[in-house]
Amino acid sequence: MGNVAVVGSQWGDEGKGKVVDVYGESADLIIRFQGGNNAGHTIVVNEEKIVLHLIPAAALHDNKTCIIGNGVVVDPEVLLREINQLQEKGYLQSSSLLVSDRAHVIMPYHKQLDKLRESNTSATFIGTTGRGIGPAYSDKVGRRGIRMADLLRPDYLEKRLEEVLPEKNCILQSYFNAPPLEACGLMDQLLTLAERLKDRIVDTQPLIHNALKEGKKVMYEGAQGVLLDIDHGTYPYVTSSNTITGAALSGAGVGPNDVDQVIGITKVYTTRVGEGPFPTELENETGALIRKVGGEFGATTGRKRRCGWLDLVALKHAKRVAGFTGLALTKIDVLSVVDDIKICTAYELNDEQIDYVPSTPEDYERVKPIYKTFVSWDEKLPKVKSKKDLPAALQEYIKFIETELEVPAVLLSVGPDRNDTIVIHNPFN
Ligand code: IMP
Repeated sequence: MGNVAVVGSQWGDEGKGKVVDVYGESADLIIRFQGGNNAGHTIVVNEEKIVLHLIPAAALHDNKTCIIGNGVVVDPEVLLREINQLQEKGYLQSSSLLVSDRAHVIMPYHKQLDKLRESNTSATFIGTTGRGIGPAYSDKVGRRGIRMADLLRPDYLEKRLEEVLPEKNCILQSYFNAPPLEACGLMDQLLTLAERLKDRIVDTQPLIHNALKEGKKVMYEGAQGVLLDIDHGTYPYVTSSNTITGAALSGAGVGPNDVDQVIGITKVYTTRVGEGPFPTELENETGALIRKVGGEFGATTGRKRRCGWLDLVALKHAKRVAGFTGLALTKIDVLSVVDDIKICTAYELNDEQIDYVPSTPEDYERVKPIYKTFVSWDEKLPKVKSKKDLPAALQEYIKFIETELEVPAVLLSVGPDRNDTIVIHNPFN
């Protein structure tokens, strides 16, 4: 019982959209707390695929209040597009969608700088989504950001733009040899977007705290995954926000007692997009098979996801920093096509066995995974409705993960559709 945070436990793309959608049915208030439209949450409803980048997936249910929290960076154009997409499909009729006035805006120059930095051959290539996430968070922390509230105050917005644009233009022109930006053009663009969004931009604090006081069921929706966390992930190959449960507190504006349970969304194999260490990566036919069967192509960029075995060392690290109380195991059906399934239980580094994630990419690139092999199951899974009806070999695989992590599996996803889900425990009930 209580309020629930849903957090990705790997390098993102664990299937959070589906889990938020399934549990979201029981929640009253759903708050997305970090990241931006670098995320791509896919939900399949009656065989129709819907991809959301900013709006909480629970917005597909009736009578919900969905909030884009202060910890999120918002591209207003993308948000408007997503609202239209949902409204055209008949959603967002009885559910409301609000944006914190404290959330920062992804400005056109953030997207430009993200792409220019990535194409700069003398800088580390991260493989970002190119959506301006890093530059927007840098400006937030550097106190040069524009917030959603500023879009509603043209005089203040103009003053802020006059303050920040000279520096941006200096970087664009002198360092990247790109054309400068005009304040008036930007103002026009932003004010047009603001006009269309103005009714949704509010101080979300009173709403959230009244809901908590009234005992409403609150869900905190994360994006990306713990291994992409700016502090605890594989720096510098990470995203620019904290993705761990702690970010739910700062990114929604609540206290530690306002989060009761933490569901770690865990794909039963691992994927990663972009650069960076990935010890259990399978650069072979098995990896290609998992990619094909699992549809492992980025929901945001369409890039091929790198695929590999489940990594318990990385997962234990994630559990420690994010404090999972339950696991939602996803994409279980995909592993049905693989013969011998492996789980990484430890690493070897410099001829020694280690059970932690090294903090530098140099060391992490060099670790060798130590595996335990599991026999596969060959039965088709999607129509299975109860854990006890699953093949014995799969039950053993799940038991091993639960025992190693000392966290129970509370949800099993055995297919892409909402209905292909075994809910062992609904944390809201
Ligand atoms: P950024 O968040 O666009 O700055 O990208 C930084 C790194 O995080 C890159 O490796 C991206 O591929 C990765 N990344 C960002 N968002 C997601 C996501 O939602 N799923 C998986 N990887 C992501």
